[in-house]
Amino acid sequence: MHPDLETIVLTEAQIAERIRELGEQISADYGHEPVLLIAVLRGAALFVADLARAIESPVEIDFMAVSSYGSSTKSSGVVRIIKDLDETIEGRHVLVVEDILDTGLTLKYLLKNLASRGPASLEVVTLLSKEGKQRVPISCRYIGFDVPDEFVVGYGLDYAERYRNLPYIGILKPEIYSD
Ligand code: IMP
Repeated sequence: MHPDLETIVLTEAQIAERIRELGEQISADYGHEPVLLIAVLRGAALFVADLARAIESPVEIDFMAVSSYGSSTKSSGVVRIIKDLDETIEGRHVLVVEDILDTGLTLKYLLKNLASRGPASLEVVTLLSKEGKQRVPISCRYIGFDVPDEFVVGYGLDYAERYRNLPYIGILKPEIYSD
């Protein structure tokens, strides 16, 4: 385990197994319909790479980047599109791929924005959802894991841009972050 971590909450094997299950479920739901995965950068980059390979339906991938926490561990509630999609989503089946659902503020904004572009369908898959934290109701069709309300890193999730490359997900030691 990385020395900055207090504990591991999800192992590499647990993550891989759950993504395989999500891929099966998504493939069953979409069948032969093409699905456009919209990954929210940067946290969901690793997840979308593995999830896409677990889906048998025809898959296309696009990326969006929104402002997040910077190096702080608290949600600011401020959401800004930093990088928009490269293609139009009108009439397409869109599945937004998120790393973690915390307050829900980011997704709420994103979904409203995407819905206004006229997709054929709009659903969300999140790898993690923080228990009891959602301040706004989000209808999330696929959830990988519910996690405790702690700041987690690894498998795409960062603290001050570090730890994204850890193959597992863990809780940082409190002395590592400084707010
Ligand atoms: P929300 O708008 O509060 O739901 O925040 C969602 C975004 O905040 C996620 O996509 C992450 O980028 C970031 N975030 C929230 N909780 C964590 C965490 O525990 N670790 C790392 N990033 C987090």
